[in-house]
Amino acid sequence: MCGIVGYIGQRNATDVVVGGLQRLEYRGYDSAGIAILGAEGLQLRRSVGKLANLITRLASEPAAGSVGMGHTRWATHGGVTEINAHPHRDASGEIVVIQNGIVENYLELKGRLMEAGHTFLSQTDTEVIAHLVGVYFQQTGSLETAVRHAMADLRGGNAVVALCIHAPDTLVAARLGNAGGVVIGLGEDETFIASDIPAILDYTRDLIFLEDRDLAVITREGARITRLDGTPVTRPITNISWDPVAAAKGDFKHFMQKEIAEQPRALTDVLRGRIDQEAGQVFLDDLKLDTNALRRIDRIYATACGTAWHAGLMAKFMIEHFARVRVEVDYASEFRYREPVLGADALLLAITQSGETVDTLAAMEEARTQGVPSIALVNAIGSQAARVADGGPLYLHAGPEIGVASTKAFTSMLAASYLFALYLGQARGTLTPNQIRPHLQALIELPGKVAQVLESAAPICVQLADRFHHATNALFLGRQANYPIALEGALKLKEISYIHAEGYPAGEMKHGPVALIDEHMPVICIAPRDGIYEKMLSNIEQVKARGGEVIAIGSQGDDLLAAKASHVITVPSTLPLLQPILTVIPLQLLAYEVAVRRGCDVDQPRNLAKSVTVE
Ligand code: AGP
Repeated sequence: MCGIVGYIGQRNATDVVVGGLQRLEYRGYDSAGIAILGAEGLQLRRSVGKLANLITRLASEPAAGSVGMGHTRWATHGGVTEINAHPHRDASGEIVVIQNGIVENYLELKGRLMEAGHTFLSQTDTEVIAHLVGVYFQQTGSLETAVRHAMADLRGGNAVVALCIHAPDTLVAARLGNAGGVVIGLGEDETFIASDIPAILDYTRDLIFLEDRDLAVITREGARITRLDGTPVTRPITNISWDPVAAAKGDFKHFMQKEIAEQPRALTDVLRGRIDQEAGQVFLDDLKLDTNALRRIDRIYATACGTAWHAGLMAKFMIEHFARVRVEVDYASEFRYREPVLGADALLLAITQSGETVDTLAAMEEARTQGVPSIALVNAIGSQAARVADGGPLYLHAGPEIGVASTKAFTSMLAASYLFALYLGQARGTLTPNQIRPHLQALIELPGKVAQVLESAAPICVQLADRFHHATNALFLGRQANYPIALEGALKLKEISYIHAEGYPAGEMKHGPVALIDEHMPVICIAPRDGIYEKMLSNIEQVKARGGEVIAIGSQGDDLLAAKASHVITVPSTLPLLQPILTVIPLQLLAYEVAVRRGCDVDQPRNLAKSVTVE
């Protein structure tokens, strides 16, 4: 979604702002713009398309000054045009505003302003905010008060930054709802604003996160924070230890490729400090729910979107198996609208890489309203989900995931869910240390097995991609714990290669999708030697009988499967509910190689964004 960067200090704001926007490129956008205040006055530069277009524009029309802001836009209101790109000006042209989010009542506000004689250049909701700030500035002479009043008029979720030529030493930032984070970075005689940490990590590690309904007046000296109603508030300064190098692509061609390769490391980090192999114990110190609270839980709602929802399906298998607690898995985007009856002893398990997905945050809010605690399995440190989870964040520690297609965060979600399920079983007495020990051993061995798959599957996926990258459809089949992996394999392929793909429980194939199968349809069957292996073999026969070309993901040394399928990729064996962490790796590699051969923008697929902060 949209990215926001702001700067006030001694450096050239253009360099800081454009550099920050480059760091946010992974979020996905369709246009970009900056506003810089300097000796030449207020200078606006905007361009449609990639940031490179804005940079080219700045080469011929430079902008200089020590205060500024920038924005990458993901269109919601109004098409992808330069006029609709941010920043937007107020009626006087002396105030500029950028926004991440949606103003739900913008038509009503726009109508009111038009009746008062305002004319609008763009179709955006953000221009309405700029005009509102302008109106209130005329009345009060204070940018802070003007933004405060304007925010009070808005309905929706918005992160807003405003700059005014009459207050050249100030930026005002405000946050309403969950549409996007606002992080303030503190430096020496300089202060930064961003919608995400990587944008400012080159300059500072000392960060303040704005909460819902916070407003910050930002100067070179720092930030003064109040609630939108004017009440002063203190927010803690968090020191982040991320390495900026981890946010860079290194030697890899794409971030997705790098992130797939990082999975052994990520799967090691998710375990760090959380297991005692000798004692057969799991420690999740981040969690704030004590043993009594964990024992009382009688139902868990796993809520998430997209890939994280697939992790939720897996979490259900794990938690029900180890802790014997009922788990319902909900699309976060549906959850609140079905008026869920959660019950007094329920727990919400929010699963999210970014921690900023608006639907997942809304599901957490629904739980909070019903008095149900939530735990967030979350990757992004300090994100909104991490902060609002009253049962605590359970950090994935996968490191920054830049590619829009989630890979390492997914496998880390599975490993974290496994740890959580063991922990719950331990707290509820459904697992003894002796029973836990082999699971910890299997978790410890997992990164090495993932590394083996990465090595052995890579060349086969290259060959398969050479053969199948012109396909127009693909079917992914799996059963039980490998059914979510079939869904995930299909999602990976469609989001980065634009090939239509479906994931199905293999037993359901004969109830419909079998009609699609012909010699042009690659069918990817996930068939490790597990409890339903024989059933998968029957399903593979059914595909073959209709001329489908079977690509099987199976267990090492399975000659029977090799004889039946046209192509086989094997993975080492592990415990049944950890097996999906291995079977998904070839599917990630395959999607990546196919997308590369189709010339697709792997890291920023069309129409997609990394953090989905609008409904
Ligand atoms: C994953 O490849 C997708 N890009 C998408 O489905 C993603 O998993 C979903 O939007 C949820 O994001 P989150 O984990 O940041 O909440």
